Amino acid sequence: MKVGILQFAPRLGRVDDNREAIAAMLRRRKFDLAILPELATTGYNFADRRQAWEAAEDRKGRSFDFFGELAAAAGGVIVWGMAEKAGRRLYNSAVLTTPNGDHHVYRKTHLFFREKLIFDPGDTGFRVFTWRKVKIGVMICFDWMFPEAARTLALAGCRVLAHPANLVMPYCQAAMVTRSLENRIFCVTANRVGTETNRHGALRFTGRSQLIDPSGVRLLGFTRTEKAFKTVKIDPRLADTKMVNRLNDLFKDRRTDYYRI
Ligand code: ACM
Repeated sequence: MKVGILQFAPRLGRVDDNREAIAAMLRRRKFDLAILPELATTGYNFADRRQAWEAAEDRKGRSFDFFGELAAAAGGVIVWGMAEKAGRRLYNSAVLTTPNGDHHVYRKTHLFFREKLIFDPGDTGFRVFTWRKVKIGVMICFDWMFPEAARTLALAGCRVLAHPANLVMPYCQAAMVTRSLENRIFCVTANRVGTETNRHGALRFTGRSQLIDPSGVRLLGFTRTEKAFKTVKIDPRLADTKMVNRLNDLFKDRRTDYYRI
C-alpha cells in the first residue's frame, strides 16, 4: 500500500487558492492513500466563527467533487481537512474521499483552545472505513492528546490511522510514536507549516509530518518547513498482530476490570 503525506501552508480563507495548491502537488501522482492537513481547504487561525463560516462548505461544496476527481485520477483515497457547514452547525471535519466519489465525514471530537469558540464539537464518533480490505481510521489533530481516540479506532480494527493536523505544540510527533506502539497500528500525521496571524495573535505550525509503523519506527518524515507530497510503501498486515513478544498480546492482555473510564 502506497501512502502519502501532503505537507503545505494553506492560506487563511483562500479556498480556491488552497485547492489549486493541492492540485498542483497531487497532479499525476499515484497512491493508495493520501493524507492532507486539518482544515487544508481553509486555513486555521480564524478570528471568529463568522470568518470560519464564510470559508466553510456544505455537502454541495465544490471541494467534494474536486477531491473526488483527484482521488479518481490517483486511483486512491484522500483524507482532507475542511470546515463543514451542516444546517446552522459548523464542524472542523476530515473527509475520506474514495476514487468512486464516496465521501465519509469525521467531525473533530476534541476541539483545541479557540476552536471551542468557533466550531461545534464533533458528533460522528470515531469510525473506521474499509478501503481495499484495509481498515482506515480518522482522527484530527488534538484528538491525539486523548489516547482513547486512537484506542477506540484500533479496537474497531483500524490498521492505518489517518491524522490530519495543524499542530502548534511540540509534543504530538513524539506522542504518536506511543499511539502506534500501544495499539500496534500505523499512525500517519499530516501537519501543516507556516504562520497565521489574526487579532488574537499568531500561530506557528510545527510541520514534521510523519508516518510511524506498528513497532514505533518512523518510515516517512518531513522537516519543520518542508512543503511536499512524499510517499512510502507499507504493509498494513503488520498491524494485524497485537503480539509484542511471544506471550504478550496488547489487546488480550488488557485488564478492563481495573480500568475506570
Ligand atoms: C489542533 O488541534 N489543531 C492543535
